[in-house]
Amino acid sequence: MKAAVVGASAGLGRALAERLAEAGHELVLVARDSRDLEAVACDLRIRFATSVRWLEADLAVPDAAGLRARIKDKLGRVDALFLVAGLGDDTDHGPMEEAALERVIAVNYTSPVAIANAFLPDLMDGSLSHLVGIGSVAAMRARSRNMVYGSAKRGLEFYFEALRHRLSAYPCRIQLYRVGFMDTSMLPGRGGPLAASPDSIARAILARLGGPGGVAYLPRWWRLVAILLGVTPWRLFIRFKG
Ligand SMILES: NC(=O)c1ccc[n+]([C@@H]2O[C@H](COP(=O)([O-])OP(=O)(O)OC[C@H]3O[C@@H](n4cnc5c(N)ncnc54)[C@H](OP(=O)(O)O)[C@@H]3O)[C@@H](O)[C@H]2O)c1
Repeated sequence: MKAAVVGASAGLGRALAERLAEAGHELVLVARDSRDLEAVACDLRIRFATSVRWLEADLAVPDAAGLRARIKDKLGRVDALFLVAGLGDDTDHGPMEEAALERVIAVNYTSPVAIANAFLPDLMDGSLSHLVGIGSVAAMRARSRNMVYGSAKRGLEFYFEALRHRLSAYPCRIQLYRVGFMDTSMLPGRGGPLAASPDSIARAILARLGGPGGVAYLPRWWRLVAILLGVTPWRLFIRFKG
């Protein structure tokens, strides 16, 4: 399989790239920092003797058509596209500086939607079989923390659902994961004992590749939390400030 991982230099994206390389798949890694990308690609080539190339792109400055062209230039056909990159902001409990707000929306919503949109012809002609997006449990129910991040992730879910509806007659799979806390540099130390390892999440995503489409929770027990939060009355819910 030929796969592109957007947000592959760290955390979950890097873990996915590792598992894909281990399985012998041909990869293109995308992120902002060429030094990180070169180091990850080099490491994977040495450990797994597979073709791993990389592309620098800043999702805060969306150029989805250009990115699609560059990915296809490296890989030819793309079988699986993983849109993993995400960005939080410590000031995202309002008010935020406008530039920071726009960056959070661009990385978590505008760019992944624009990239999926750019690859729509590939999904429709059957060359791209798997589109995987990464959402967050922050989108379960709106709170005063991660206000912009959570709404961007909720928007991304909406787009993936619409895409799944649009492509229901096509053979491709559209999957989106509401991921819980992970032990990565995005939220260092924040998830405490609830934080999953990015490797365990990557393995679960790859085990479900080609399985049911739609939104799923990882780890799966977050679904129970979502149900409980969903039925919590507002007067109790406003007391949860964490
Ligand atoms: N960590 C958590 O607890 C948690 C919880 C729920 C959901 N998630 C979601 O899971 C996904 C992975 O998160 P993670 O914790 O693995 O994050 P991470 O460790 O911070 O890694 C983020 C990746 O995205 C890339 N990225 C960030 N901004 C970018 C930009 N402007 N342009 C291009 N690439 C960019 C980073 O590359 P550069 O360093 O080169 O920018 C890096 O490869 C995200 O979508 C996140 O929202 C995370």
